Amino acid sequence: MKIIVAGTGYVGLVHAAVCSEYGHEVYAYDNDINKINAFSSGQAEKIEQYVNEPGLAGIIKETVGKYLFFSSDLKAIIEGADAIFLCLPTPPNLNGSTNLVFYDAAAEDIAQVLAERKDGRRVVLVNKSTVPIGTARHLQEIIKGHNVENFGVASNPEFLAEGTAVTQARKPDRVVVGCDHEADFKILCRVYSQFVNHVRIKYIETTPETAEAIKYVANTMLLTYISFWNGVGAKIGENFSNVRIDDLRLGVTADDRISTWGSFVSNGAGGSCFGKDIASLIYQLRSVNVSTKMLEASYEVNEYQKVYLIERAITEAAFKFNNRTIAVLGLAFKKHTNDMRDASSIKVIESLLGKGVARVKVYDPLANESAKHVFDPSQNILFEKIEYYETARKAVEESDAVFVSSDCEEFRGLSRTIEEAVPPPYLVMDGRRMIPDFEELIAKGYSYLAVGAVAMTPENKV
Ligand SMILES: NC(=O)c1ccc[n+]([C@@H]2O[C@H](COP(=O)([O-])OP(=O)(O)OC[C@H]3O[C@@H](n4cnc5c(N)ncnc54)[C@H](O)[C@@H]3O)[C@@H](O)[C@H]2O)c1
Repeated sequence: MKIIVAGTGYVGLVHAAVCSEYGHEVYAYDNDINKINAFSSGQAEKIEQYVNEPGLAGIIKETVGKYLFFSSDLKAIIEGADAIFLCLPTPPNLNGSTNLVFYDAAAEDIAQVLAERKDGRRVVLVNKSTVPIGTARHLQEIIKGHNVENFGVASNPEFLAEGTAVTQARKPDRVVVGCDHEADFKILCRVYSQFVNHVRIKYIETTPETAEAIKYVANTMLLTYISFWNGVGAKIGENFSNVRIDDLRLGVTADDRISTWGSFVSNGAGGSCFGKDIASLIYQLRSVNVSTKMLEASYEVNEYQKVYLIERAITEAAFKFNNRTIAVLGLAFKKHTNDMRDASSIKVIESLLGKGVARVKVYDPLANESAKHVFDPSQNILFEKIEYYETARKAVEESDAVFVSSDCEEFRGLSRTIEEAVPPPYLVMDGRRMIPDFEELIAKGYSYLAVGAVAMTPENKV
């Protein structure tokens, strides 16, 4: 099949690369020429500057120029296309609704080019972006408005999780395809031929609106489950003495009906999707007069969770932030990615700066560079207080406290780093419960404050 992928971000680039691995002829298109140049080079360091996913650069290196091509000129690649995948940004508006400005602009460009094509073969426009229920219909109207002939629209939401995107794209748990016409189902069956009739992959054919709804329900369900553990499980561990949160989790999730995924309490879930998708579903449900209390609670618990350890440090560990130096470890929203979008670390660092700290010494194995764009001193002079380090050890040295904000595996060895780098009194704020041997730290005079447990200081050993 000849496939065009519009938008080469996390979703589009991974989809394009994996489709090219399966022998489709894939043309990935983006209006950001810098990205197109970087990806066409096939060089890992250039690709990973934009999208850093394990295994991705390797596939691109193998397939670029053979099955995978990059372009910023849609007209030059349109002839003969069977499917055009829209993998465009759909950020939130201030009121929570989905902003379709990028999506509509790309759809208009595609419609204009399609109207002028010569081949006349059936082409299906496939939504991979997360878009409100009814957007496939809206897309259909845009394309029709340009008198395009022989086209269909489909919804094929993306469920990948960053950090494992390539593995998941190669072997998803499900492929959801929503179409109106048999001809379009057939085209998508050929695109996904390796997944159709697979013993372990659910290939689900439905209406475009159902496919759009599946994505929102799935994402808000995941966030609600995370918020349940943070808003209920963690709070029990923090407020009832002698309750061990890890044992609580094990005991509860021993039931096959209750997921282990999402039961690890934390300083909130970040990333580009959960927050905006729940806000969008709240908006969509309110617009049809449905109560959204449950979704609002999930959202609020998650936001509160991002910074409440800092408040607890003041009230429970008597820590004073003013003029102190704090290390923050783990900037990206999770391990194995450099994606800073909606990362919990942003709220943590902003909160620390608001409390008057003198310096924030930060470290992330992949995201130091992308963080510099987020904490741009020309936007906020306080960001000048942020210093970037190449190792956790260097960030921790000469600090008064550390905040662990992501789940990078290397942080599991942090107790030794802390012992070697800084003497007590010293406060460890563990937003991810990453330090298994925290009791040894407390025995040596350090204070330890984690999500899901009461504060542990040398004076208040538990
Ligand atoms: N990132 C994820 O983990 C994830 C997972 C599932 C679904 N999604 C959804 O997929 C969509 C894309 O997400 P993403 O993370 O890949 O976004 P992204 O911002 O990383 O990538 C979007 C790309 O679209 C390009 N673009 C913007 N306007 C364009 C235009 N007019 N023509 C061509 N290209 C254009 C941008 O330059 C960018 O490269 C969103 O709706 C998101 O909610 C994302």
